[in-house]
Amino acid sequence: MQNVTLIATAAMGLESVVANEVKQLGYDVTVENGKVIFEAPISAIPRCNLWLRTADRVRVLVGKFKATTFDELFESTKALPWEDYISEDGMFPVTGKSLNSKLYSVPDCQAIVKKAIVDRLKLKYGIATKMPETGATYKLEIALLKDVATLTMDTSGAGLHKRGYRVGQGEAPLKETMAAALVMLTNWKPDYPLIDPFCGSGTIAIEAALIGQNIAPGFNREFASQDWKWIRNKYWEEAAEEVEDKANYDQKLDIIGSDIDYNLIKIANDNAIEAGLGDLISWKQMQVRDLFIRNENGYLIGNPPYGQRLGDEDAVAEIYRELGNVMRSHPSWSVYILTAFENFEKQFGKKATKKRKLFNGFIRTDYYQYFGTKIKGE
Ligand SMILES: C[S@@+](CC[C@H](N)C(=O)[O-])C[C@H]1O[C@@H](n2cnc3c(N)ncnc32)[C@H](O)[C@@H]1O
Repeated sequence: MQNVTLIATAAMGLESVVANEVKQLGYDVTVENGKVIFEAPISAIPRCNLWLRTADRVRVLVGKFKATTFDELFESTKALPWEDYISEDGMFPVTGKSLNSKLYSVPDCQAIVKKAIVDRLKLKYGIATKMPETGATYKLEIALLKDVATLTMDTSGAGLHKRGYRVGQGEAPLKETMAAALVMLTNWKPDYPLIDPFCGSGTIAIEAALIGQNIAPGFNREFASQDWKWIRNKYWEEAAEEVEDKANYDQKLDIIGSDIDYNLIKIANDNAIEAGLGDLISWKQMQVRDLFIRNENGYLIGNPPYGQRLGDEDAVAEIYRELGNVMRSHPSWSVYILTAFENFEKQFGKKATKKRKLFNGFIRTDYYQYFGTKIKGE
């Protein structure tokens, strides 16, 4: 195999952010709902897993075909070159989903795909008994959409949001992939100040620091495909070298995370230390109304409480008013707030320059963006 077709899966609303990241790595993309598809050499698998900050996972497309009967599904699956991917002792659980398709029984589709692959591999590897399935894991998915079957293999293992630095968390932590996207959707550059005044366990500030020093988000974890024989070790080694070469540990950063809850500040600090960013981010226990801004041209990025629990609405409205009061005297700062609170602009006291619909898990939110009037020479 020379090239593979890869699919970087993305949360709804983040497809274009993921697509930009993949393009930055040097690959041409096609964007569909929830996914970014691209042809790439095998070396892209380590690179994408290590570098993509906003994708959920990276999957390999093994085959795509029309299937309206179980026979078709079986034969077309069996015709694919599984021995190129799965080793003799490989373990390959199959999950599935089906939407608007004649083959709607997902457990049956999974069982048929499994049987077809077992039949093929037994023949290719000359195995007469049961397949051992004691080796590396290859998680497969059969996805049926309008009678088209797509077979993919997950290269990531744990989702890419699991960076490996989160040793603690608060009540409603942002996924690391979403936090990175919130930073990447701004024009923040590492030499501008950045504050998250609702930092909780520190995800936005930590992701910003990783971005600021160009540290690959996956540097601290492992991936399922590291155990696959068809991805030569050399590619992982080269990707690890690239990660080291591209990191800019000398980049100075001015990043502050603050929160009303002292316990969360301690957790945020522990997470930053785990990420190796211990002395790069300043953490402070502080209410948003006491926020003290001493410089210009900064970026405030925050994920405040949404007030979705009964009775919380007034308290949350008050927090937004306090934020608006503080930021009114800092017009050079840009403000970015992710919330599901519908009257945010009214409480904050200003119409957003731009709004973007995003899903924080299953919660529909808006990302309110206020562009600061930059002061030259600052
Ligand atoms: C949705 S959580 C933020 C989660 C965070 N993004 C993370 O990844 O862990 C909202 C945070 O706002 C904090 N908070 C609530 N009221 C506040 C106030 N008046 N001033 C500052 N922080 C406040 C809460 O303690 C909570 O940690």
